[in-house]
Amino acid sequence: MKKMTDFIESLLKDAFIEAGLDESYGRVSLSNRPDLCEYQCNGCLSAAKVLHKNPIELADQVVSTLKNSSDFESIEAVAPGFINIRLSGKALSFFVKQMASEEKYGVETEEKKTIIVDYGGANVAKPLHIGHLRSAIIGECIKRLGAYMGHTMIGDVHLGDWGLQMGLIIEMMPDGPVSIDELETIYPAASARAKEDADFAEKAHQKTLLLQSGDPECTEKWNRIMEVSLADLKKNYNRLDVHFDLWNGESTVNALIAPLIQNLIDKGLAYESDGALVVDVAEAADKKEIPPCIVRKSDGAALYATSDLATLEQREELYKPDIYIYITDKRQAMHFVQVFRVARKSDIVPEDHRLVHIGFGTMNGKDGKPYKTRSGGVMRLEELISDTEDAVFRKITENRDISEEEARKTSETVGLAAIKYGDLSNQASKDYVFDLDRFTAFEGNTGPYILYTIVRIKSIIKRYRSESTDMFTADDILPYNSLSEKKLELELVRYNEVMENAWHELAPHKICQYIYGVAEAFNSFYHEVKILTEEDVSLKKSYLAKIELTMNVLLDCIHILGFDAPEKM
Ligand code: ARG
Repeated sequence: MKKMTDFIESLLKDAFIEAGLDESYGRVSLSNRPDLCEYQCNGCLSAAKVLHKNPIELADQVVSTLKNSSDFESIEAVAPGFINIRLSGKALSFFVKQMASEEKYGVETEEKKTIIVDYGGANVAKPLHIGHLRSAIIGECIKRLGAYMGHTMIGDVHLGDWGLQMGLIIEMMPDGPVSIDELETIYPAASARAKEDADFAEKAHQKTLLLQSGDPECTEKWNRIMEVSLADLKKNYNRLDVHFDLWNGESTVNALIAPLIQNLIDKGLAYESDGALVVDVAEAADKKEIPPCIVRKSDGAALYATSDLATLEQREELYKPDIYIYITDKRQAMHFVQVFRVARKSDIVPEDHRLVHIGFGTMNGKDGKPYKTRSGGVMRLEELISDTEDAVFRKITENRDISEEEARKTSETVGLAAIKYGDLSNQASKDYVFDLDRFTAFEGNTGPYILYTIVRIKSIIKRYRSESTDMFTADDILPYNSLSEKKLELELVRYNEVMENAWHELAPHKICQYIYGVAEAFNSFYHEVKILTEEDVSLKKSYLAKIELTMNVLLDCIHILGFDAPEKM
């Protein structure tokens, strides 16, 4: 389905041609002065410059051929040469009706691509903390958005399950069964001890090398760690409603490391430097120094970059993805520049397969420092979730009669929305402040506010259906009757354009911006217009069809963002 801006633009372009001007000047955008108009075209200003003419005269000329168009409520030339546009009720309702009858409300399915999203990235035997929370939330959203656009999305958790961290745990781990709580205390203890005790550090290092070369005893311990840790990780990711297609990790590609390194040497790319093996990746156009990528340390151990390269090789072999999207803390940006460049130079990834890294900022506390627990420790994901649920629980039980059980269930749904929306509504690369009170508020730009709006619409429709058997459909949609209704329509019709943009820019915050606008427009409409008590039956059905579309669009969006709406709240 056409996008609203394209539709208006096509009308403008014809008018520019009729006025003897090039159609490329007929570009239309959403108005940045909604008090003056809804859409605008600034093309006459640039045309006038090139042609040495008076912009307002050109604008007058263009507008004159569109004055009587039934698609515009008004179209006017305004000094110094803008064209201000307001849509007619007919054009808007036609568009809204079409949206309501399409499967994805006007969003077009794209030509299918295979895309790997590498997100989550938890390290086994360590508690999930907030750095991994952001990767999980953003990655899950990107994956769902890509699928909505029609692509085959493959999500891989790419666990940190190899290397020195495992050697450290193995060295300190007792024989016999071990619990996740024990594991989580072993790692920090072992890593602290390695810093003070050179002998211990060396033993852990040896265990790492033994593990990497397949030693049965180390492998047995590693398997035990994995079993316990995976069960815990799966539980936590499920709770976040984050689901992976692949549970691979750094260990998955261990066998590929040695031949990969040999290949880099044979190609003349990898060479020895201070005992380590490195690949130069600097390019003439670089604005800052890009150091060589180390693929093997002097002690023979492989590194993070090596396992990422081997993983690329494996993914090419198995999936030949058109696009790779990695989601990590932005402090890993240099790592990905290096890895991507080695992958290109060594032909591990062909030129036409895109490599993308989304680096996100830090989640801070109100003090502007990385979010901590009340006692100052690293915040565990579970704790963050339960704090949020408790805050929501207090709000829903405050002035209402609701069973404990129902309130708990609702708090889980709403709490998750609060966390995810709070995160995704910020541009990913920016740091943000996790503000429990603000994120769980039922008013303002929050997840709970969006859910509240959806629940409100659900209940109106439910009430109507319980009182009437007369159905309403997209065909019942009529031109708007009031300004607040028009504003709602104007928000709604941007849907396909917003989703396409959000996808191409991999920018979930644009979806949040959009649904906040839709929710606000709906709520103003709801407060101004009586829907169920409207006596004119055809008007009432038109309202219902429009609010149902509003609800469906919001539902699709929140599902892409990664959360659901409760029945009541
Ligand atoms: N385990 C890593 C970390 O905790 C993140 C992994 C990201 N993915 C990747 N392919 N490097 O920082």
